[in-house]
Amino acid sequence: MKYPIHLENRDLIGKRLVSPTSERNRTPIGEHLAKLLPQNAQVLEIAAGTGQHAHHMCGLRTDICWQPTDIDPDSLLSQAAYAQDFPERILDPVELNVTHPEWWSGFENSTTLFCANMIHIAPWNAAQGLARGAGHLLRQGGKMFLYGPFLLETDNADSNLEFDSNLKARNPEWGVRSLDAVKHIFADQGLNLEAIIEMPRNNLLLKFATSS
Ligand SMILES: C[S@@+](CC[C@H](N)C(=O)[O-])C[C@H]1O[C@@H](n2cnc3c(N)ncnc32)[C@H](O)[C@@H]1O
Repeated sequence: MKYPIHLENRDLIGKRLVSPTSERNRTPIGEHLAKLLPQNAQVLEIAAGTGQHAHHMCGLRTDICWQPTDIDPDSLLSQAAYAQDFPERILDPVELNVTHPEWWSGFENSTTLFCANMIHIAPWNAAQGLARGAGHLLRQGGKMFLYGPFLLETDNADSNLEFDSNLKARNPEWGVRSLDAVKHIFADQGLNLEAIIEMPRNNLLLKFATSS
């Protein structure tokens, strides 16, 4: 059985997929990333989906270069369509599966990694693969930004608990991930959780960086 890669109804305008979730969260994410991305950042986006974040961020920050990736061929087509508006700065989308060994090979010039809303709609080994690659790519410095819902030790929002049950009912390998567990798999790769930014609808934007 092939599981869905998202849980929403997406429109298609030309070759561009429109994710209502991205429409909603790209502005608050963009407000933070626009301030946090280093000058001339070379951003590698994992699981870029429709390509809307790449498009939005390259509109906000004219100095950055963005590499969108995904495992899903339809998403790559959509990313390529959005990239046409920024031909120099959004690179040709690349098929990438973070559970593959050494998926990071070829992306060594990345200064920044960004991944939104993947690790709960994928088996846990996707989160582990993401952390492993981030550890390899950011050894010399750089940042990783991870956006999505997370489960806290206590005081979880009802919406996140319900979302977790809903995901597990669809696929027992999915689920809203424990912030603590995510923190640990990145720490094991030499990346420390430097900042936790509270976002709308009980989401978080996490910033990881090497300890040096
Ligand atoms: C809910 S969508 C989020 C898309 C986009 N990041 C956003 O915020 O709009 C989840 C994405 O994760 C991708 N994905 C799932 N498993 C993956 C894997 N092992 N490696 C890379 N991408 C993966 C899916 O193809 C899908 O595009």
